[in-house]
Amino acid sequence: MGHLYLSRELTPGAMDAVRSLGLPLVVHDDPDRPPPRQRLLDDVRGASALITLLTERVDDELFDAAGPGLRVVANCAVGYDNVSVDAARARGIVVTNTPGVLDESTADVAFGLVLATSRRLVEADRFMRSGAEWVWGPQLFVGLDLSAGATLGIVGLGRIGMAVARRAAAFGMRILATGSRASSAEAHALGVQPADLSRLLAESDVVTLHCPLTPQTHHLIGAQQLAAMKPTAHLVNTARGPVVDEAALVHALERGVIAGAGLDVYEDEPRPHPGLLALDNVVLLPHIASAGRATRDAMGKLAVDNVRAVLAGDPPLTPVPG
Ligand code: DGY
Repeated sequence: MGHLYLSRELTPGAMDAVRSLGLPLVVHDDPDRPPPRQRLLDDVRGASALITLLTERVDDELFDAAGPGLRVVANCAVGYDNVSVDAARARGIVVTNTPGVLDESTADVAFGLVLATSRRLVEADRFMRSGAEWVWGPQLFVGLDLSAGATLGIVGLGRIGMAVARRAAAFGMRILATGSRASSAEAHALGVQPADLSRLLAESDVVTLHCPLTPQTHHLIGAQQLAAMKPTAHLVNTARGPVVDEAALVHALERGVIAGAGLDVYEDEPRPHPGLLALDNVVLLPHIASAGRATRDAMGKLAVDNVRAVLAGDPPLTPVPG
Protein backbone atom coordinates (compact mmCIF):
# COMPACT_ATOMS: atom_id res chain seq x y z
CA MET A 1 0.00 0.00 0.00
CA GLY A 2 1.33 3.43 -0.93
CA HIS A 3 1.06 6.53 1.22
CA LEU A 4 -1.80 8.92 1.91
CA TYR A 5 -0.94 12.39 0.65
CA LEU A 6 -2.56 15.37 2.33
CA SER A 7 -2.11 18.73 0.63
CA ARG A 8 -2.51 20.79 3.84
CA GLU A 9 -2.70 20.12 7.53
CA LEU A 10 -6.38 19.96 8.55
CA THR A 11 -8.03 20.93 11.86
CA PRO A 12 -6.92 18.91 14.93
CA GLY A 13 -10.04 16.69 15.01
CA ALA A 14 -9.62 15.89 11.32
CA MET A 15 -5.90 15.18 11.76
CA ASP A 16 -6.73 12.63 14.48
CA ALA A 17 -8.99 10.90 11.95
CA VAL A 18 -6.23 11.02 9.31
CA ARG A 19 -3.76 9.38 11.69
CA SER A 20 -6.32 6.73 12.68
CA LEU A 21 -6.03 5.32 9.15
CA GLY A 22 -2.59 4.04 10.07
CA LEU A 23 -1.24 4.69 6.58
CA PRO A 24 2.17 6.11 5.78
CA LEU A 25 1.43 9.82 5.60
CA VAL A 26 2.90 12.70 3.62
CA VAL A 27 1.49 16.08 4.66
CA HIS A 28 2.48 19.27 2.85
CA ASP A 29 4.60 21.11 5.39
CA ASP A 30 3.22 24.65 4.99
CA PRO A 31 -0.11 24.86 6.85
CA ASP A 32 -0.96 28.23 5.29
CA ARG A 33 -0.21 27.76 1.60
CA PRO A 34 -0.96 25.08 -0.96
CA PRO A 35 1.96 23.05 -2.30
CA PRO A 36 3.67 24.55 -5.34
CA ARG A 37 2.72 22.45 -8.35
CA GLN A 38 6.06 20.65 -8.79
CA ARG A 39 6.22 19.87 -5.08
CA LEU A 40 2.72 18.42 -5.28
CA LEU A 41 3.64 16.30 -8.29
CA ASP A 42 6.74 15.02 -6.49
CA ASP A 43 4.98 14.26 -3.21
CA VAL A 44 2.07 12.28 -4.67
CA ARG A 45 4.42 9.82 -6.41
CA GLY A 46 3.45 6.30 -5.31
CA ALA A 47 0.39 7.43 -3.28
CA SER A 48 -2.66 5.18 -2.85
CA ALA A 49 -4.89 8.02 -1.68
CA LEU A 50 -4.98 11.81 -1.82
CA ILE A 51 -6.88 14.20 0.39
CA THR A 52 -7.00 17.39 -1.63
CA LEU A 53 -8.47 20.85 -1.18
CA LEU A 54 -10.06 23.24 -3.65
CA THR A 55 -6.64 24.89 -4.10
CA GLU A 56 -5.24 21.85 -5.94
CA ARG A 57 -5.83 21.12 -9.61
CA VAL A 58 -6.45 17.40 -9.73
CA ASP A 59 -6.00 16.28 -13.32
CA ASP A 60 -4.26 13.86 -15.66
CA GLU A 61 -0.86 15.39 -14.91
CA LEU A 62 -1.35 14.70 -11.20
CA PHE A 63 -2.63 11.17 -11.84
CA ASP A 64 0.41 10.48 -14.05
CA ALA A 65 2.67 11.75 -11.29
CA ALA A 66 0.96 9.61 -8.65
CA GLY A 67 1.21 6.48 -10.76
CA PRO A 68 -1.01 3.42 -11.12
CA GLY A 69 -1.41 2.72 -7.39
CA LEU A 70 -3.68 5.74 -6.83
CA ARG A 71 -7.18 4.55 -5.88
CA VAL A 72 -9.01 7.48 -4.35
CA VAL A 73 -9.02 11.28 -4.34
CA ALA A 74 -11.02 12.60 -1.40
CA ASN A 75 -11.60 16.29 -2.09
CA CYS A 76 -12.17 17.95 1.25
CA ALA A 77 -14.91 20.32 0.00
CA VAL A 78 -18.41 19.92 -1.33
CA GLY A 79 -17.38 21.65 -4.58
CA TYR A 80 -15.16 19.60 -6.85
CA ASP A 81 -14.70 21.85 -9.87
CA ASN A 82 -10.93 21.57 -9.23
CA VAL A 83 -11.03 17.84 -10.06
CA SER A 84 -11.11 16.33 -13.55
CA VAL A 85 -13.68 13.72 -12.64
CA ASP A 86 -13.79 12.18 -16.13
CA ALA A 87 -10.02 11.75 -16.16
CA ALA A 88 -10.19 10.03 -12.75
CA ARG A 89 -13.00 7.72 -13.87
CA ALA A 90 -11.10 6.75 -16.99
CA ARG A 91 -8.33 5.47 -14.71
CA GLY A 92 -10.66 3.81 -12.19
CA ILE A 93 -9.80 6.37 -9.49
CA VAL A 94 -12.69 7.12 -7.13
CA VAL A 95 -13.41 10.80 -6.44
CA THR A 96 -15.32 11.84 -3.32
CA ASN A 97 -16.43 15.17 -1.83
CA THR A 98 -17.90 16.29 1.51
CA PRO A 99 -21.59 17.10 1.02
CA GLY A 100 -23.99 17.58 3.91
CA VAL A 101 -21.59 18.30 6.76
CA LEU A 102 -21.04 21.95 5.87
CA ASP A 103 -24.56 23.09 4.98
CA GLU A 104 -25.38 24.91 8.21
CA SER A 105 -21.97 26.53 8.57
CA THR A 106 -22.04 27.77 4.98
CA ALA A 107 -25.61 29.00 5.35
CA ASP A 108 -24.63 30.92 8.49
CA VAL A 109 -21.98 32.85 6.59
CA ALA A 110 -24.20 33.34 3.53
CA PHE A 111 -26.90 34.78 5.76
CA GLY A 112 -24.26 36.78 7.63
CA LEU A 113 -23.33 38.33 4.29
CA VAL A 114 -27.00 38.99 3.55
CA LEU A 115 -27.21 40.93 6.82
CA ALA A 116 -23.81 42.58 6.49
CA THR A 117 -24.42 43.94 3.02
CA SER A 118 -28.09 44.86 3.41
CA ARG A 119 -27.58 46.61 6.77
CA ARG A 120 -24.15 48.02 5.86
CA LEU A 121 -22.53 46.54 8.97
CA VAL A 122 -18.95 46.44 7.75
CA GLU A 123 -19.18 49.90 6.21
CA ALA A 124 -20.44 51.21 9.57
CA ASP A 125 -17.59 49.42 11.38
CA ARG A 126 -15.06 51.07 9.05
CA PHE A 127 -16.72 54.44 9.70
CA MET A 128 -16.39 54.00 13.48
CA ARG A 129 -12.75 52.99 13.23
CA SER A 130 -12.00 56.02 11.01
CA GLY A 131 -12.52 58.24 14.05
CA ALA A 132 -15.16 60.25 12.17
CA GLU A 133 -17.36 62.41 14.35
CA TRP A 134 -20.87 61.07 14.60
CA VAL A 135 -24.10 61.48 16.44
CA TRP A 136 -27.20 59.29 16.23
CA GLY A 137 -29.29 60.33 13.24
CA PRO A 138 -32.41 59.05 11.49
CA GLN A 139 -30.52 58.60 8.23
CA LEU A 140 -27.21 57.33 9.52
CA PHE A 141 -26.37 54.10 7.68
CA VAL A 142 -29.94 53.27 6.76
CA GLY A 143 -30.18 50.01 4.86
CA LEU A 144 -32.60 47.37 3.75
CA ASP A 145 -35.00 45.87 6.33
CA LEU A 146 -35.02 42.12 5.80
CA SER A 147 -38.09 41.49 7.93
CA ALA A 148 -40.33 44.08 6.31
CA GLY A 149 -41.36 41.98 3.34
CA ALA A 150 -37.95 41.85 1.64
CA THR A 151 -37.50 39.08 -0.92
CA LEU A 152 -34.53 36.69 -0.90
CA GLY A 153 -33.72 35.02 -4.21
CA ILE A 154 -31.85 31.72 -3.81
CA VAL A 155 -30.13 30.65 -7.02
CA GLY A 156 -29.65 26.86 -6.92
CA LEU A 157 -31.74 25.56 -4.05
CA GLY A 158 -29.83 22.49 -2.87
CA ARG A 159 -28.86 21.45 0.65
CA ILE A 160 -27.04 24.72 1.42
CA GLY A 161 -29.69 26.87 -0.25
CA MET A 162 -32.35 25.10 1.83
CA ALA A 163 -30.41 25.90 5.02
CA VAL A 164 -30.34 29.55 3.88
CA ALA A 165 -34.08 29.39 3.19
CA ARG A 166 -34.69 28.22 6.78
CA ARG A 167 -32.84 31.28 8.05
CA ALA A 168 -34.69 33.61 5.68
CA ALA A 169 -38.04 32.10 6.74
CA ALA A 170 -37.14 32.81 10.38
CA PHE A 171 -36.55 36.44 9.39
CA GLY A 172 -39.99 36.59 7.76
CA MET A 173 -38.58 37.07 4.27
CA ARG A 174 -40.41 36.21 1.08
CA ILE A 175 -38.32 33.55 -0.68
CA LEU A 176 -37.92 32.80 -4.38
CA ALA A 177 -35.66 30.01 -5.60
CA THR A 178 -34.41 28.31 -8.73
CA GLY A 179 -33.45 24.65 -8.92
CA SER A 180 -35.27 21.34 -8.88
CA ARG A 181 -35.76 21.32 -5.08
CA ALA A 182 -37.58 24.67 -5.26
CA SER A 183 -40.77 22.68 -5.95
CA SER A 184 -40.18 20.14 -3.15
CA ALA A 185 -42.44 19.70 -0.13
CA GLU A 186 -39.60 20.91 2.12
CA ALA A 187 -39.30 24.15 0.14
CA HIS A 188 -43.06 24.58 0.06
CA ALA A 189 -43.21 24.21 3.87
CA LEU A 190 -40.73 27.10 4.17
CA GLY A 191 -42.85 29.26 1.89
CA VAL A 192 -40.34 29.07 -0.99
CA GLN A 193 -41.81 29.99 -4.36
CA PRO A 194 -40.16 28.37 -7.38
CA ALA A 195 -39.10 30.97 -9.94
CA ASP A 196 -37.03 31.14 -13.09
CA LEU A 197 -33.84 33.18 -12.96
CA SER A 198 -35.26 36.26 -14.68
CA ARG A 199 -38.21 36.56 -12.28
CA LEU A 200 -35.93 35.90 -9.31
CA LEU A 201 -33.51 38.64 -10.39
CA ALA A 202 -36.28 41.16 -11.06
CA GLU A 203 -38.13 40.62 -7.77
CA SER A 204 -35.41 39.93 -5.20
CA ASP A 205 -33.98 42.44 -2.73
CA VAL A 206 -31.08 40.10 -2.06
CA VAL A 207 -29.88 37.40 -4.47
CA THR A 208 -27.74 34.63 -2.96
CA LEU A 209 -25.89 32.06 -5.09
CA HIS A 210 -25.73 28.37 -4.14
CA CYS A 211 -25.18 26.54 -7.42
CA PRO A 212 -22.06 24.50 -8.21
CA LEU A 213 -19.57 25.83 -10.75
CA THR A 214 -20.08 23.99 -14.03
CA PRO A 215 -19.69 25.06 -17.67
CA GLN A 216 -23.42 25.96 -17.51
CA THR A 217 -23.10 28.21 -14.43
CA HIS A 218 -19.85 29.96 -15.44
CA HIS A 219 -20.73 33.71 -15.52
CA LEU A 220 -24.37 32.89 -14.78
CA ILE A 221 -24.48 36.39 -13.30
CA GLY A 222 -23.06 38.91 -15.78
CA ALA A 223 -23.82 42.46 -16.87
CA GLN A 224 -27.23 41.56 -18.26
CA GLN A 225 -28.36 39.73 -15.12
CA LEU A 226 -27.06 42.50 -12.85
CA ALA A 227 -28.97 45.04 -14.92
CA ALA A 228 -32.11 42.94 -14.41
CA MET A 229 -31.82 43.30 -10.62
CA LYS A 230 -33.36 46.18 -8.66
CA PRO A 231 -31.01 49.15 -8.15
CA THR A 232 -31.62 48.69 -4.40
CA ALA A 233 -30.71 44.97 -4.49
CA HIS A 234 -27.68 43.12 -3.11
CA LEU A 235 -25.79 40.08 -4.41
CA VAL A 236 -24.25 37.44 -2.12
CA ASN A 237 -21.86 34.76 -3.40
CA THR A 238 -20.65 31.89 -1.22
CA ALA A 239 -20.69 29.39 -4.12
CA ARG A 240 -17.76 29.77 -6.52
CA GLY A 241 -16.24 33.00 -7.86
CA PRO A 242 -16.55 32.28 -11.59
CA VAL A 243 -20.35 31.97 -11.28
CA VAL A 244 -20.20 35.79 -11.34
CA ASP A 245 -18.50 37.92 -14.01
CA GLU A 246 -16.50 39.89 -11.45
CA ALA A 247 -15.55 42.75 -13.81
CA ALA A 248 -19.24 43.21 -14.63
CA LEU A 249 -20.04 43.17 -10.90
CA VAL A 250 -17.48 45.89 -10.18
CA HIS A 251 -18.93 47.97 -13.01
CA ALA A 252 -22.46 47.47 -11.64
CA LEU A 253 -21.46 48.36 -8.07
CA GLU A 254 -19.54 51.45 -9.19
CA ARG A 255 -22.48 52.75 -11.19
CA GLY A 256 -25.29 51.94 -8.75
CA VAL A 257 -26.80 49.28 -11.01
CA ILE A 258 -27.18 47.30 -7.76
CA ALA A 259 -26.74 48.56 -4.20
CA GLY A 260 -24.16 46.19 -2.74
CA ALA A 261 -22.57 42.78 -2.58
CA GLY A 262 -21.24 40.29 -0.05
CA LEU A 263 -18.59 37.93 -1.42
CA ASP A 264 -16.79 34.94 0.04
CA VAL A 265 -15.41 33.67 -3.27
CA TYR A 266 -13.62 35.26 -6.23
CA GLU A 267 -13.24 34.66 -9.91
CA ASP A 268 -9.43 34.60 -9.78
CA GLU A 269 -9.10 33.31 -6.23
CA PRO A 270 -7.30 34.28 -4.04
CA ARG A 271 -7.10 37.68 -5.82
CA PRO A 272 -10.30 39.75 -5.71
CA HIS A 273 -10.78 42.12 -8.65
CA PRO A 274 -8.88 45.30 -7.61
CA GLY A 275 -12.04 47.33 -8.25
CA LEU A 276 -13.79 45.52 -5.41
CA LEU A 277 -11.19 46.65 -2.89
CA ALA A 278 -11.94 50.29 -3.63
CA LEU A 279 -15.69 50.01 -3.06
CA ASP A 280 -17.51 50.71 0.22
CA ASN A 281 -20.66 48.87 -0.78
CA VAL A 282 -19.09 45.43 -0.81
CA VAL A 283 -18.20 43.04 2.01
CA LEU A 284 -15.28 40.73 1.25
CA LEU A 285 -14.42 37.48 3.07
CA PRO A 286 -11.53 35.07 2.34
CA HIS A 287 -13.60 31.96 1.40
CA ILE A 288 -14.49 31.06 5.00
CA ALA A 289 -18.13 29.99 4.68
CA SER A 290 -17.43 26.43 5.89
CA ALA A 291 -14.84 27.52 8.45
CA GLY A 292 -16.71 26.45 11.60
CA ARG A 293 -14.34 24.39 13.75
CA ALA A 294 -16.73 21.43 14.10
CA THR A 295 -17.61 21.67 10.42
CA ARG A 296 -13.98 21.57 9.33
CA ASP A 297 -13.43 18.55 11.61
CA ALA A 298 -16.46 16.87 10.05
CA MET A 299 -15.29 17.60 6.49
CA GLY A 300 -11.88 16.07 7.23
CA LYS A 301 -13.43 13.03 8.93
CA LEU A 302 -15.74 12.43 5.99
CA ALA A 303 -12.78 12.64 3.60
CA VAL A 304 -10.93 10.10 5.78
CA ASP A 305 -13.97 7.78 5.92
CA ASN A 306 -14.13 7.88 2.14
CA VAL A 307 -10.44 6.96 1.89
CA ARG A 308 -10.89 4.15 4.43
CA ALA A 309 -13.86 2.70 2.54
CA VAL A 310 -12.23 2.74 -0.87
CA LEU A 311 -8.95 1.27 0.35
CA ALA A 312 -10.92 -1.49 2.09
CA GLY A 313 -12.69 -2.28 -1.18
CA ASP A 314 -16.03 -0.88 0.01
CA PRO A 315 -18.15 1.71 -1.79
CA PRO A 316 -17.26 5.32 -0.90
CA LEU A 317 -19.68 7.14 1.40
CA THR A 318 -19.99 10.25 -0.74
CA PRO A 319 -18.75 9.74 -4.28
CA VAL A 320 -19.12 12.82 -6.48
CA PRO A 321 -22.37 12.63 -8.43
CA GLY A 322 -22.58 11.67 -12.08
C1 DGY B 1 -16.60 23.78 -0.46
O1 DGY B 1 -16.75 22.87 0.37
O2 DGY B 1 -16.78 23.62 -1.66
C2 DGY B 1 -16.22 25.13 0.07
O3 DGY B 1 -16.10 26.07 -0.88
C3 DGY B 1 -15.02 25.04 0.97
O4 DGY B 1 -15.46 24.44 2.10
